[in-house]
Amino acid sequence: MLTAAVVAADAKSTSYLRACVEQTGLIESVSEWTPSAEQHPQPGESVPDVVLMDLAGGTEACLDFSAHLRRLRPTVCVIACSALKQPDPELLLQAMRNGVREFLAHPVEPNVLEAALKRFIEEQAPGQKGVERKLVVVMGSKGGVGTTTVAVNLGAQLARLTEKRVILLDLARPFGHVSLLLDLRARFSIRDAAGNLERLDSHFFNALLTHHEKSGLEVLAGASDPDEWYGIAAPAIARVVNVAQSCNDYVLTDVGCLYSFELKPILQMARMIMLVAEADVPALWTLERHLAKMASWGVDTANCRIIINRWHRTDEEALKAFEKKTQQPIFARLPNDFRQVSEAINLGAPLSRNHNNPLVSNFQQLASRLAGITLAGPEKRNTIFGLFSNTPKR
Ligand SMILES: Nc1ncnc2c1ncn2[C@@H]1O[C@H](COP(=O)(O)OP(=O)(O)OP(=O)(O)O)[C@@H](O)[C@H]1O
Ligand SMILES: [Mg+2]
Repeated sequence: MLTAAVVAADAKSTSYLRACVEQTGLIESVSEWTPSAEQHPQPGESVPDVVLMDLAGGTEACLDFSAHLRRLRPTVCVIACSALKQPDPELLLQAMRNGVREFLAHPVEPNVLEAALKRFIEEQAPGQKGVERKLVVVMGSKGGVGTTTVAVNLGAQLARLTEKRVILLDLARPFGHVSLLLDLRARFSIRDAAGNLERLDSHFFNALLTHHEKSGLEVLAGASDPDEWYGIAAPAIARVVNVAQSCNDYVLTDVGCLYSFELKPILQMARMIMLVAEADVPALWTLERHLAKMASWGVDTANCRIIINRWHRTDEEALKAFEKKTQQPIFARLPNDFRQVSEAINLGAPLSRNHNNPLVSNFQQLASRLAGITLAGPEKRNTIFGLFSNTPKR
């Protein structure tokens, strides 16, 4: 991951450049500077890896700034952008002499910027991808298997355990149910993020989130009308995810079970794909096909984790056969606890520790494995799958 600064003379351009940089998913922190000489970093002060400058702030001042930055840090990657349709060769030459590495047309296209940054990363550290993947996708093998229940409760336990910022993006189609399960009245949704890419930097993104007081989760609400998805293309979703990753420790998303080829980039950028299924024939049959589809798209199925929800001891035979056939181990078994889950849904709250039930403990275990934290004491001991093995499904 790279550090970056944007240089512009006005707030609008600063915010636009910041949004572009954050949407590439390659930057971990962004500073904002103006071209004015008083603000130039001094020897000994840190200079970021990449500096993106809008020449509209004054060509001469910007090029002086670029030369100054190169003196302080010869490896800095200065990218200049200009609204001029055809920058004249004299300007390009002058820019080069002052240490500008790339010259982009303004308004900058995030994908053009991304390509320039990838070239720079490749030169600096050949073979390294330079992206820190924080995205965990929660996907259902089919409808109604508990995908949203898993996403919400895993997110809540992750926030509790790590005490870090956990974002839950509701990308389920046609309707998102996360807000409903957490009893949130969200003012903004995924539509507001994906429909405002020119403004979508981390500040704007954070303002679209709804905070869930009790769990600490930050939610980007899903669609409450299927029309909200109209015109939202997959690259826009990828940019939203990139911005979410740039300013948060964990990003979870509930993608439901409806997807098409368009979701491929999101699956490819995920650190982990949690595939939720029940241990019945249709869910396992579909799960097998999801795995095959993802492999055919080039998604690394080693990143897939299979979560069996509403698990029952008698499911084991079918699960063993599934594991043997697909060579994919079952990552977690979440016991069936209809009463507790229904109560939590009706209350609009994640499952609570007060209930002291094995399902909560299993979510804690799952969160701890995701965060790489070892649980100690009672939280660990409570993970006894068999306790609910005689509870009938409803
Ligand atoms: N571990 C569990 N034990 C018992 N019931 C559960 C469990 N997990 C989920 N359920 C029940 O399953 C139902 C569906 O849950 P949920 O809405 O999370 O599924 P989903 O896969 O997100 O559904 P959809 O496809 O509609 O988005 C809910 O009524 C919930 O009460
Ligand atoms: Mg759901």
